[in-house]
Amino acid sequence: MRLKGEVALVTGGCTGLGRAIVDRYVAEGARVAVLDRSVAGLVELRKAHGEAVVGVEGDVRFLDCHREAVDRCLAAFGKLDCLIGNAGIWDYMTQLVDIPDDRIADAFDEMFAINVKGYILAAKAALPALYESKGSAIFTVSNAGFYPSGGGALYTAGKHAVVGMIKQLAYEWGPHIRVNGIAPGGILGSQLKGPEALSLQNRCISTIPLDEMLGKVLPTGRVATAEEYAGAYVFFATRADTVPLTGSVLNYDGGWGVRGLIDVNLGAQLDKHYAK
Ligand SMILES: NC(=O)c1ccc[n+]([C@@H]2O[C@H](COP(=O)([O-])OP(=O)(O)OC[C@H]3O[C@@H](n4cnc5c(N)ncnc54)[C@H](O)[C@@H]3O)[C@@H](O)[C@H]2O)c1
Repeated sequence: MRLKGEVALVTGGCTGLGRAIVDRYVAEGARVAVLDRSVAGLVELRKAHGEAVVGVEGDVRFLDCHREAVDRCLAAFGKLDCLIGNAGIWDYMTQLVDIPDDRIADAFDEMFAINVKGYILAAKAALPALYESKGSAIFTVSNAGFYPSGGGALYTAGKHAVVGMIKQLAYEWGPHIRVNGIAPGGILGSQLKGPEALSLQNRCISTIPLDEMLGKVLPTGRVATAEEYAGAYVFFATRADTVPLTGSVLNYDGGWGVRGLIDVNLGAQLDKHYAK
């Protein structure tokens, strides 16, 4: 029960990583408000967690939706200790050359409106309550916040922008509120969708064999599940263990940044020496 008595607000908490964070936070003793556009997902959450969760239907592209989520969180639980900006979409690695001229501006606007503006508006709406609680904010980044090949130019640029936002807010909000990011790699169990402007709104990342593609090249040898990612969010929200933690982004991606370019499977050497 590492989060007993704590209150969090999670955007995009209905499926994938966000849902795993909500489940884990409740198991750790927290109460959680969720802002998500999935009505069915919010009903599911209520069924699973009852009074421990308050669901707010809304779109992260609008400040009013974030304000309503914060208000409902405060009305239900009396405070907000931790904002988790997490709702996002992916561009399915669509290369710039393949985006038609008549769609590029809309595709950019949609990607940035959800993945970047959605976080900035969440931060704006949650600021007074976080100031009051001397709380913290955690934003979901991605391996694409650091490296190419985790998305196309739209997704990669947006996630890099999020890293900049985290550093700036950590600077602006200290010493009152800590601001950090977690940058997962591929997530098993996610239902990540794409932008409508690229006709990718019904595509689901679960149709891509992520484990098969990445397991061979990642130093960890496999892709983690949404549940396996959730523990870092508990740690980042644990006040007593994170006193010095602000302005940082955890590379939490199976080793994207340290994988070999020539020999991707050096661990096989260890097997040669030690496998019985
Ligand atoms: N899936 C991956 O492999 C992966 C890898 C790295 C980072 N991420 C990041 O993880 C985060 C969570 O994604 P996920 O993989 O769990 O995807 P997901 O689609 O399973 O979950 C995203 C949630 O956000 C909600 N959402 C999307 N757009 C919204 C909007 N405009 N307004 C309100 N709610 C909205 C969805 O309804 C859903 O509940 C995203 O920021 C994503 O970029 C995902």
